Amino acid sequence: MRIALIFGGRSPEHAVSIVSASSIARALDRDRYEVIPMAIDRQGCWATAGVSAAVLDAAVSRPDEVPTFEGIHAVDPRLLDGSVDLAFPALHGAYGEDGTIQGLFEMLDLPYVGCGVAASAICIDKGLTKRLLSAAGLPTARWVEIGRYDWNAGRDTSRVRCQSLGFPVFVKPARLGSSVGISQAATGPELEAAIDLAFSFDDRVIVEERIDGREIEVAVLGNETAEASVPGEVVPGHEFYDFADKYLDDACTLLAPAPLEEEATTRARKLAMDVYRTLGCAGMARVDLFFERSGDRFLVNEVNTIPGFTPISMYPRLWGLSGLEYPALLDRLIELARARHEAQTALIGGG
Ligand SMILES: Nc1ncnc2c1ncn2[C@@H]1O[C@H](COP(=O)(O)OP(=O)(O)O)[C@@H](O)[C@H]1O
Ligand SMILES: [Mg+2]
Repeated sequence: MRIALIFGGRSPEHAVSIVSASSIARALDRDRYEVIPMAIDRQGCWATAGVSAAVLDAAVSRPDEVPTFEGIHAVDPRLLDGSVDLAFPALHGAYGEDGTIQGLFEMLDLPYVGCGVAASAICIDKGLTKRLLSAAGLPTARWVEIGRYDWNAGRDTSRVRCQSLGFPVFVKPARLGSSVGISQAATGPELEAAIDLAFSFDDRVIVEERIDGREIEVAVLGNETAEASVPGEVVPGHEFYDFADKYLDDACTLLAPAPLEEEATTRARKLAMDVYRTLGCAGMARVDLFFERSGDRFLVNEVNTIPGFTPISMYPRLWGLSGLEYPALLDRLIELARARHEAQTALIGGG
């Protein structure tokens, strides 16, 4: 089977995506799969076949150095001419994890790894995610969503709405990842500055009560019948799990498995599966939770539909603990992609 492995892209997680892709390329079983690398540059242009292959080779042989390159195509022509059987987007964040490229695969009738268009678009959007979760009775931190129009029209109404949350709060752009544009506010002026900052990244901003909790992550895998891994835990090295913590230094610690009582473990896994089903996920997702220090509740923080896939990333590590090693995990994801595509084709064919 010919697999388009797609990496790089326009989001701030461009470099992480290349590392994820190089790990995937190394682990894919070459007796079963032919890997067709497709690199997207930071502007969104797709590289030639030769450049894509060279970028991936360089990343595989020297994982510490992120290769720079430039693309020339609006889209890789090999996606359009029947040269590939399945797409594996190893892209994180905007234009990769948000339903846009999934839409392209749908138009091309190409099976692809991971969530579909709607679930991807929902999960990248913290406001939509929270609305759907609370409609289903699933717990998340209390929040207020502010649109740019309302904020510009008069800040007072938004300020009053935020007051109900108390201080401190977390302020985030609705649709960004990797902690970009996120800050904490403990006073009115800080809140205003934090909201302005978040608005420089998105048209909608989420203001959320701060949860004093441990950060627990659960890996979910499957289509209609999904399974949850044992939970892991992120112990941030900074005040919160910010961009530097994630990508620039090694200050944070990943605990896999998370040191939790059995009963809490069971609850975390069940909640993660409920979240997965509620949001209509397929293939895979990493569900990030807070576990309150004072109380005993789990709250859903966010869902990542293309989680990090480096060898030290939480998603593959958690499956490794559950007995599914990295290459077998990739086999399973590819199988799930094909199964979903077949089921969809049958539906359309029968309709
Ligand atoms: N409501 C909150 N209470 C406490 N910490 C938070 C809250 N929201 C976010 N954080 C901290 O900020 C980090 C990044 O926020 P998150 O919502 O996960 O955004 P991203 O999509 O950028 O990862 C979290 O991992 C956590 O450390
Ligand atoms: Mg996060």
